[in-house]
Amino acid sequence: MYDLLILGSGPAGYVAAIRASQLGLKVGCIEKGEPGGTCLNIGCIPSKTLLDSSQKFHELQTKYANLGIVSKDISLDLAKMMINKQEIVSQLVDGVRTLLKSNKVEFIKGTGKLVGKDEVEVTAENRTHTYKTKNIVIATGSYPAELPNIKFSDDIVDSEGALSFQKVPNNLVIVGAGAIGLELGSVWSRLGSNVTILEAQKEFLPSLDRRVSRLILREFKLQGLSIFLDCQVQALNESTKGIEINYKEKEQENSIEADKVILAVGRKANLNNLFSEELKPSIKNGLIEVNDFCQTDVKGIWAIGDVVRGPKLAHKASEEGIMVAERIAGLDAGLNYGNIPNVIYTHPEIAWVGMSEDELKKSEISYKAGSFPFSANGRALTAGETSGIVKLYADATTDKILGVQVFGPSASELVQQALIAMDNGITSKKLGETVFSHPTVSEALHEANLSINARAIHIQNKL
Ligand code: NAI
Repeated sequence: MYDLLILGSGPAGYVAAIRASQLGLKVGCIEKGEPGGTCLNIGCIPSKTLLDSSQKFHELQTKYANLGIVSKDISLDLAKMMINKQEIVSQLVDGVRTLLKSNKVEFIKGTGKLVGKDEVEVTAENRTHTYKTKNIVIATGSYPAELPNIKFSDDIVDSEGALSFQKVPNNLVIVGAGAIGLELGSVWSRLGSNVTILEAQKEFLPSLDRRVSRLILREFKLQGLSIFLDCQVQALNESTKGIEINYKEKEQENSIEADKVILAVGRKANLNNLFSEELKPSIKNGLIEVNDFCQTDVKGIWAIGDVVRGPKLAHKASEEGIMVAERIAGLDAGLNYGNIPNVIYTHPEIAWVGMSEDELKKSEISYKAGSFPFSANGRALTAGETSGIVKLYADATTDKILGVQVFGPSASELVQQALIAMDNGITSKKLGETVFSHPTVSEALHEANLSINARAIHIQNKL
């Protein structure tokens, strides 16, 4: 009898397993593939490897000559780039396997199915075994969504396929300008593809403030990404000559041709074949319904990560894993869902957390805003990374920081600094009094914060 059986070993499942084992529980982690889930095997890690490699290739071609670094005969060895990506994935997957083992988590290879509220059936190589457990955590993740009447093929691929092209496509069309569309668009554009991104929504990155999203759109267009908004892709026709993409642009029918298409139109929870007829927690809009502590409506069954509400992000999934493991062990754990950071790993990066200006305007909260452009930051200038801005909001009464949005160098790290302040109720005045090293890009966050109270030194304050 296990204390806890976890279905799935992605960032939700393996983290829950390790934390539960640390707390003295007997834990089994069931996985049909390799440990690490989508994030390590076919998501975050391989995509970030290609983002970093392609950025270096692009900079070597376009930027270094201005710095007095002359390199000749630069060429791309895509096969080698892919081997490096796979080696990094393997290293991290082995790392998770070792962590599970050293934490005494039993790794159970196979496909799990809930057959009773204390029973999980695991099938591997046509053999089925049933395990008994006191608690079950569903952490089976998600898979790429298709569009109606459009199926994946060799040339119409999802994010996984797009991380393994064997040659650089000439004309690449991406459907969807979310995190996946923008990251993969950046990779292949830097490696030489002519990239067009078609996005159904009228607004670009609607979670961000208009001023920030307009700046990003302008920068990406300068980088060579053709991004078209208000374009609903309706049909793809494959022929020997390539793929014709038919879409409605505003009210007009339009079409474009490509040799490869990436569908990046969201992800769906992996719930297929997970439950027996008798045992099924409530499911709504394709997600398992849970409370704030990730408990389903069946006692002893929990669900975390991409199978439940909230953003489909690895770090949100991991924190839910820790919360659930601790609650099963009897601790009083919770998660602040208001402060989950978002990052899109383009160049420059885009990162944000907390409330946006639109949300603040709709709320009753009176707020003050500050901003600082990287063009006025010395370190950004020395690195040739002057595009972008930091925007910050604080409560007009309590002075607590309510939200931050960054487009610029090390945006992911800068947002994390602001988030530490937010999670600990540190006021903008206090953050303004903190000493930041010079010269660093972090000073842009410091100055944006000072500008909230018209105290910025390196820009004209708006009074
Ligand atoms: P997404 O939901 O972020 O974006 C999909 C986009 O496709 C939407 O903007 C939508 O309007 C558009 N779309 C849908 N149907 C369309 C159509 N017929 N024609 C044109 N556009 C259409 O989903 P995405 O980018 O696929 O990512 C999936 C999930 O993975 C997201 O939850 C994302 O947050 C997560 N993810 C996060 C990453 C990160 O944090 N850096 C990286 C990769 C994925």
